[in-house]
Amino acid sequence: IRYIDDLQLTGKRVFIRVDFNVPLEGRRITDDTRIREALPTIRRALEMGGKVILASHLGRPKGADPKLSTVLVAEKLAELLPKKPGDKHEVIHADDCVGDNVRKQVNDLKAGQVLLLENLRFHKEEEANDEAFSRELAALADVYVNDAFGTAHRAHASTAGMVPFVKEKAAGFLMRKEIEYLGDKVLRNPQKPFVAILGGSKVSDKIKVIESLLPKVDALLVGGAMAYTFLKAQGIEVGKSRVEEGDKLALAAKLLDTAKRLKTPLVLPIDHIVCADLEGKGPVKETPDQVVPVDMMGLDIGPKTRAMFTQRIRDAKTVVWNGPMGLFEVAKFAEGTRSVAAAMSINKDAITVIGGGDSAAAVEQMGYADKMSHVSTGGGASLEFLEGRELPGIKALETK
Ligand code: 3PG
Repeated sequence: IRYIDDLQLTGKRVFIRVDFNVPLEGRRITDDTRIREALPTIRRALEMGGKVILASHLGRPKGADPKLSTVLVAEKLAELLPKKPGDKHEVIHADDCVGDNVRKQVNDLKAGQVLLLENLRFHKEEEANDEAFSRELAALADVYVNDAFGTAHRAHASTAGMVPFVKEKAAGFLMRKEIEYLGDKVLRNPQKPFVAILGGSKVSDKIKVIESLLPKVDALLVGGAMAYTFLKAQGIEVGKSRVEEGDKLALAAKLLDTAKRLKTPLVLPIDHIVCADLEGKGPVKETPDQVVPVDMMGLDIGPKTRAMFTQRIRDAKTVVWNGPMGLFEVAKFAEGTRSVAAAMSINKDAITVIGGGDSAAAVEQMGYADKMSHVSTGGGASLEFLEGRELPGIKALETK
């Protein structure tokens, strides 16, 4: 893979695919991390004398939808782009991503200017990876840069289809950082001991990650609702806890067998925080052991488990974490997730990587994000990456 600073950009039209798919509440961007993380690449392209064209999707629109216009992102970017707080950098917004008007706007661009295209997904051809649409996007570019790690698991026109039609291609700095941490420092050359922590609600979402990590890690710690499927598969009473029934129980049993065969500890919670109510109304209790009372739900890992996980994390040299330990959105069930974040943040000798999605949101919200070696901007993309799969957006940069 080539990187942006391997290229000559002076006077060139630099098309940068970014992932500006930020969470919105009405017209407010509630988390601008993905925009901030793309700044180093955008700034470098400008410093190198490029004419910068930015393209992203936002949400999952069915056709053009003003609520999902990238115009909001353009305003935010104009604030964030200057290095001095308070300054603004002009960000021109195009009201489409293809067509005559956009071509004209691109041709009028001067070195140092930034043009943000309208939401790529306003055209169904983006997700269909349509060739004619890919060629139209490619016609806007002298150079293609992909910095959209969060969308690298999608084979869409802007992440894959257009790439062969542009003369030069490279990855941006965010893409490089994600590949360096998730790829080199976690999957390929982890310092040992290497501990992975997986949580979230479903085992079925994590099967491939578990299979990919089990042979590599020294221990796999499991929390969140998925732990109850594993416990139930071992015949332990889990009360009214959320479990995946049927074949997922057999699958959990199989994963436990695989761990045993590999002699890799797959560590399940040894106690829980339980309640009969998801919002924590009614009594909240700690269980003395792995058993959940029949009328209760396990909603977080208990204090003994927190201490055990903390110790494992403190002894590790590489830690990767994906998925919360409990229903952390409710304060009474957030302690398990907080304790994992805290233990990771304290271990300064370790490479600590948050594999995106809910755990990244939790770490951000709880104020630990700056203390990690890396917080991935990918949700689905980081999971697929950790599964060991080839991501189309990265593959497109590799091929000749
Ligand atoms: C994400 O947020 O995971 C990426 O931006 C991809 O979005 P998608 O799941 O709608 O393709």
